[in-house]
Amino acid sequence: MSALSAAASAPPAAAPSKMPVTRAMFDQFMVPCYAPAPFVPVRGEGSRVWDQQGRMYIDFAAGVAVTALGHCHPAMVKALGDQAKTLWHVSNWMTNEPALRLAKKLIDNTFAERVFFCNSGTEANEAALKLARRYAFDKFGESKYKVVSTLNAFHGRTFFAVTAGGQAKYSSGFGPKPAGVSHIAYNDVAALEAEFAREGDAICAVILEPMQGEGGMLPGTPEFLQAARRLCDRHNALLILDEIQSGMGRTGTLFSYMQKGIVPDILTSAKGLGGGFPIGAMLTTDKVAAAFSVGVHGTTYGGNPLACAVAEAVFEIINTTEVLDGVKARNRLFQEGLKRINASCKLFADIRGEGVWLGCELVAAYRGRAMEFVRAGHDAGLLLLVAGPDVLRLAPALTIGLDDIIEGLGRFEQALQKVAGQG
Ligand SMILES: Cc1ncc(COP(=O)(O)O)c(C=O)c1O
Repeated sequence: MSALSAAASAPPAAAPSKMPVTRAMFDQFMVPCYAPAPFVPVRGEGSRVWDQQGRMYIDFAAGVAVTALGHCHPAMVKALGDQAKTLWHVSNWMTNEPALRLAKKLIDNTFAERVFFCNSGTEANEAALKLARRYAFDKFGESKYKVVSTLNAFHGRTFFAVTAGGQAKYSSGFGPKPAGVSHIAYNDVAALEAEFAREGDAICAVILEPMQGEGGMLPGTPEFLQAARRLCDRHNALLILDEIQSGMGRTGTLFSYMQKGIVPDILTSAKGLGGGFPIGAMLTTDKVAAAFSVGVHGTTYGGNPLACAVAEAVFEIINTTEVLDGVKARNRLFQEGLKRINASCKLFADIRGEGVWLGCELVAAYRGRAMEFVRAGHDAGLLLLVAGPDVLRLAPALTIGLDDIIEGLGRFEQALQKVAGQG
């Protein structure tokens, strides 16, 4: 028996004892680009999370709209465990079964005919923007490269994606940005028409979120989204829909475009796609995909079997009437609860959103203070999000239990009262 096979059959060594950790270690060891909550979560189940001290939080954040089926869903645990015992990684000079199965499911249930897998939302958008440019370059020549995006958009942090995003604070200070990206006001049909009138056939793509998430939970109007489709068609430009946050059932259909009367040329997905396991995808048509010939784009981990096996399990559960109708029913429960709370606390100028993706816009006196409410939420045992400085965002699991919604809304009310009580 060789040394290697002997080692493989020897009893496993005792697991090394785990080093105790504290939140303070973050400030000591991590690159300071985040300011995490003062507690450290150690366990999650469904829509509940526990910290190191054993304190339970109701989860209305879902890891920023990611854990679509809650924490540690048994089907996901099984898919990951089974795949972990079978095949972890081969990279893209071979394909693999979970990636092909997941691609087929995405294609069978959307407009798409082709899929490109990657690891995150920003990479999916990076691929989409590069594909749009390459398609235009191949078909129409090098002068068709302009990208139209919207102010306050968020498309991720790689340099092309962050340039396409419409918030200068995220893209400034890094040197020259990729050229040819302009921004118009979201939902402004006249501004979009004016941009096409000015740049005309030089535009290769329009990139939009169907509802701006990070930018303040602002739903796209049907007129705006349909104008984008119409103008793209007229000028041979591609419509890229960023469904990284809005997709995978969050608004009550598999993807949000399905309710908006438009079909994109390219769609990007991530977040809920893996339910907490990192994966991104870019979906497109045969015609557009052809611009990415062998070697033109790629990533080592794209289509990783572990990620795709988990995403396949997530997809099978989300893409059912039971879950999608459940999202719509939960929307009604949240809307009613939030309106009832606001009738007494009067902190919100507007309550809006679709499915389990809700925004509460603070009244003028509390503008700029959204993070205070998140911190008060922590004190009340609730995880919630902001969408900019003026909007509180709720994005729980699609399958959050009704009892957890009620319990969470009670804690939300406590948090609101706490901030309001402080003036
Ligand atoms: C609409 C949208 N696009 C892109 C991204 C970037 O995704 P990731 O953080 O996985 O790169 C996000 C993340 O919040 C998003 O909300």
